[in-house]
Amino acid sequence: MDLATAWAIKLTGLKDQEKFKALGWGLRTWDQWYFNDCDDRFGTDWPGRIPAQLVAHTLFYFTDPGDLVMDPMAGGGVVPDVCLLFERKCQAFDLAPIPDRPEIEPFYWTADTTTWPCTREPDLIFFDPPYFTKKKKAYQEKADPETPPISSLSRHQYMQFFARFFELAHENTRPGAILAFLNADWRDFESTPAKKESPDHAITLFDFHRLLSETGWKITHRIECPLSSERLSGTLVQKMQDKRILGTVSRTLLIAKHI
Ligand SMILES: C[S@@+](CC[C@H](N)C(=O)[O-])C[C@H]1O[C@@H](n2cnc3c(N)ncnc32)[C@H](O)[C@@H]1O
Repeated sequence: MDLATAWAIKLTGLKDQEKFKALGWGLRTWDQWYFNDCDDRFGTDWPGRIPAQLVAHTLFYFTDPGDLVMDPMAGGGVVPDVCLLFERKCQAFDLAPIPDRPEIEPFYWTADTTTWPCTREPDLIFFDPPYFTKKKKAYQEKADPETPPISSLSRHQYMQFFARFFELAHENTRPGAILAFLNADWRDFESTPAKKESPDHAITLFDFHRLLSETGWKITHRIECPLSSERLSGTLVQKMQDKRILGTVSRTLLIAKHI
């Protein structure tokens, strides 16, 4: 039996707060959720894997036990694992499902998608897509050449994809449903001094805010979930400072309600 299932069985019937305590996760009371590391007990190692604690906090504040959670781009399966743990139902999809994780169903989203793979209306959609071209190569390696990940799209196509996805999600949920959308500002900072960055190359949370508002979603919360900066070597940091490059460790969870 895998660890995630063993923990889920062990904690069955406990209240959410008791589960946080048993897992050794301090419950965050404020709208800043920083977790230094992923908890290896949950989810398979995967590019862009997120901490299980981040998912657990989303479920704690925005769902009830028994609710249905949908994960359209489930990657290493942290969301289904945490749903099992916190007794929420889950339907998860990805273009590259992991063979020993039958709970993640194959599904390929495009800007032309008209079908909705969930068999019931979800109460919450936890959406953690690739942050534009970040980790593009790693996602391409997991995918088939015929089904390239959205990180291979141009900036324009990438934004068109989200406009369609948010619209489709709105059509397939009822009023009151929640979309939890995790993303980070994308800027061409890697070799460009901050003062010379062009807004035409950037995709920021404000762009997603606009798309969500245009497709019937009302943003209710903005939760900061910063990435760790410790993975950058001292030499790299020094180079960035010499060139006046302003890095980004911000990552934001937007909570939007179907209105
Ligand atoms: C940021 S990762 C998700 C990580 C996941 N939350 C975890 O913690 O392991 C984004 C996922 O989106 C998937 N993906 C990218 N483009 C897709 C598409 N067009 N259709 C379906 N899945 C896609 C990738 O295969 C990748 O697993």
